[in-house]
Amino acid sequence: MKAAITATAKYVPDEIMTNHDLELMLETNDEWIRTRTGISERRIMKDPGKATSFLCSEVARQLIEKRGMGAEDVELIIVATMTPDMLFPSTACLVQGMIGATNAWAFDLNAACSGFLFALNTAARFIESGAHRNVMVIGGDKMSSVVDYTDRSTAILFGDGAAGVILEPAESDDYGILDARLYSDGKNGKDHLLMAGGGSLNPASHETIEKRMHFIRQNGKQVFKAAVTAMADTAAEIMERNGLDAENISWLVPHQANQRIIHATAERMGLSEEKVMSNIARYGNTTAGTIPICLAELDEQQKLQTGSNLVLVSFGAGYTWGGMYIKWQ
Ligand code: UT7
Repeated sequence: MKAAITATAKYVPDEIMTNHDLELMLETNDEWIRTRTGISERRIMKDPGKATSFLCSEVARQLIEKRGMGAEDVELIIVATMTPDMLFPSTACLVQGMIGATNAWAFDLNAACSGFLFALNTAARFIESGAHRNVMVIGGDKMSSVVDYTDRSTAILFGDGAAGVILEPAESDDYGILDARLYSDGKNGKDHLLMAGGGSLNPASHETIEKRMHFIRQNGKQVFKAAVTAMADTAAEIMERNGLDAENISWLVPHQANQRIIHATAERMGLSEEKVMSNIARYGNTTAGTIPICLAELDEQQKLQTGSNLVLVSFGAGYTWGGMYIKWQ
């Protein structure tokens, strides 16, 4: 049995932070940001009382409504995030409580920007094995809670947002999640993209706050190089394993970290721009949110037909990366 996506939904906050807004806060400019990253604006959830669970519960409510299910019908909720409301309880448990999914069990999964792909592949096993008839998979991050708005090398990149899907048994084995290749490299990845403070190694203290350790730090150049190679290699691997080519692929759905990385991946696949989903200009990098937001927008715009071949690829902190082949049901 294969697992297929039967509903998609997204939620982004209304508040927009443009490149011009950032010009007022940092030594940067709209032209640099657009040409080096492809980003024009991002969404920021300004209400301090709202966190990742709010973004994800808005998605969860829409998913239930779109699928015509009751909240009590949901069997499992997996939330991919690296900005949980709290270290514990999990954000997935908070979402389960907020929507009243009283029969679901729920857990978080953290694979940073690859979180949604890792969660989707995990969820697929529960469907394929017959253990569950549905799984809700949501990727979401309130990145503004960990961004240092005095650091121009990272502040410009990230935005807040969430999206998700419902996975159910596919109508036939020809549809749904047909292949996935997921990777991690903690040896080479651990020092280049991280938030050092707040965990068990560096619990919050005056010192961690003074050293600004509760914010993201990134060695942009190093991560850029690793991301280009890993995303392009994995996309090529997924194509080769599944007999896909530039003609029969309908959409590349890539993690939205930098338009130049997206472009390099598409080029390696031989894909023309019109087959590449990109909304980084409007949302920036929403971490675990990027790929499901792309899926939800393609679905909203009715650009996914039965039989459409989708290649999803991601790269993020860890390092973590991967690719997935989905034939749309
Ligand atoms: O989602 C997780 C994975 N993350 C990624 O995939 C992100 C990967 N990295 C990147 O996307 C890029 O490396 C960045 C967008 C972060 C940076 O772009 P870059 O082309 O690698 O720039 P750079 O860091 O090499 O900086 C080039 C110049 C530097 O000035 P000098 O040394 O050449 O004088 C920077 O100081 O641009 C300067 N710079 C800026 N200038 C204006 C860096 N940030 C900014 C800025 N505004 N915001």
